[in-house]
Amino acid sequence: MDTVLLECRGLTKAFGATRAIGDVSFTARAGRVLALVGENGAGKSTLMNMIAGSVAPDRGEVAVGGEPLRGGPAAHAAAGIAMVHQELSLFPNLTVAENVLLGREPRGWLGIDDGRLVRRVGALLDDLELDIAPSAPVSRLSPGQRQLVEIAKAVAVAPRVLILDEPTSSLENPQVDLLYRITRRLTDGGAAVVLVSHRLDELFRFCDDVVVLRGGVKVAESRMSDVTRDGLISAMVGRDVTQLYPPRGRGDGTPVAGLRGVSGDGLHDVTFTARAGAIAGVAGLEGHGQALVAEILAGARAPRAGTVTIDGNPVRLRSPRAAVGRGIGYVPPERRTEGLLFGLGVDENVTVVAGRAVNGGWLRRPKREAAAVDRVVRRLRLTASSQRQPVSELSGGNQQKTLFGRWMLHPALRVLVLNDPTRGVDVGARAEIYGLLRELADRGVAIVLVSTDMQELLGLADEITVMYDGRVTGVLDGASATEEQVMRLAVGEAA
Ligand SMILES: Nc1ncnc2c1ncn2[C@@H]1O[C@H](COP(=O)(O)OP(=O)(O)OP(=O)(O)O)[C@@H](O)[C@H]1O
Ligand SMILES: [Mg+2]
Repeated sequence: MDTVLLECRGLTKAFGATRAIGDVSFTARAGRVLALVGENGAGKSTLMNMIAGSVAPDRGEVAVGGEPLRGGPAAHAAAGIAMVHQELSLFPNLTVAENVLLGREPRGWLGIDDGRLVRRVGALLDDLELDIAPSAPVSRLSPGQRQLVEIAKAVAVAPRVLILDEPTSSLENPQVDLLYRITRRLTDGGAAVVLVSHRLDELFRFCDDVVVLRGGVKVAESRMSDVTRDGLISAMVGRDVTQLYPPRGRGDGTPVAGLRGVSGDGLHDVTFTARAGAIAGVAGLEGHGQALVAEILAGARAPRAGTVTIDGNPVRLRSPRAAVGRGIGYVPPERRTEGLLFGLGVDENVTVVAGRAVNGGWLRRPKREAAAVDRVVRRLRLTASSQRQPVSELSGGNQQKTLFGRWMLHPALRVLVLNDPTRGVDVGARAEIYGLLRELADRGVAIVLVSTDMQELLGLADEITVMYDGRVTGVLDGASATEEQVMRLAVGEAA
């Protein structure tokens, strides 16, 4: 073991005027997990895509077992490289089994042998301890389950080098444990794994070695056991981030918006209050109703029974647009399908809800608009080649920042509902977003934060509402709550 399996030599890639990766070399060894870290836009995905063969380098080469690879993705796959991409790529209307063995289905006389397909994938899922039905359509799975299916699909080819580009961004703790066991099994079998993640705890737990990228170049390389958490952060962001979470507020303002006795779609008699000046966290295991609470508050879904209240009065929010009209903003969890205007620039995405206020009227004032967008870009450390760069060309974390940034310009924001707003966002920008949420709260906005990131809720929320099976099982004081208390309520036990 410990022999070099994957070697990158002088990889270089530019997109137009943007240097995404400049002359990067590193190796990954058999039996080891390598962490690849860096800020949003540092070039991680571009580098991994070059290794997987889906992006052609301008210069440099990738070798596996000493053999330089020539040709596209098929040649890289044939050499034993498999990759789980940052954005999910499953076909929602095919089944789990069809997705996992896509293009490699077992065939009989009459074409694809469905029985064998389902059995084979079923055995693989069992072996990986994934509790997912092979015949279920992918559209019925939760985001976390979809991510696990992507991983199963990559593992199904028994790769020598497995690349995981932020595989845990929508996984919760038990699923992360599962992934840990899967990667260890691969490395025990002599494979090399490269893991890209912004979750530091996980990196320290999973990884043996680490490579740090900043602005497309390698700035550090080490054994994981030789680096400290703070050292890693400052290598990544080029400065110290001493405080991730801002000081807490008072959190006892007047109720602004809420749900009263809401039921249906899996919810049971949910009552919830968002207060001016406070950050109200909503915790729970995936699929226990937290997302529905966010959608109902944001006007994206109507409650079947019960009411939405604003300033104590029942209201009917007919659409997200109607909610915006009442000062309710929403950051949805699925940036690719909800919320972002992919073909348009950062500028248009950021000014889409507050354009009129930014311009001071219906007429566009390009200078004022550009200045407002610039404030958002700087504050969030959003990396884009220009304000006009289409959002489709941004790195995943910078897309997420764009989605969040538009609410910074809304002049009459009263409630901001967020579902996993820091998914895929680097640690420096996360500190910035947390600071901004607290600033908004201090200005009187009621923040509703649905998150799968327990540390984030414990660090930031003034109050944590925990859900299980569509019910509220408890409301904890954010400053004193412990992880254990939240977990108990989240599995339906008393805190
Ligand atoms: N197709 C493209 N066209 C133009 N620019 C691109 C394209 N793909 C990536 N870039 C740019 O290359 C740089 C590196 O992007 P990359 O996606 O590799 O970053 P990353 O480190 O994976 O970030 P994140 O943590 O946000 O996923 C960014 O500045 C990005 O805007
Ligand atoms: Mg990326």
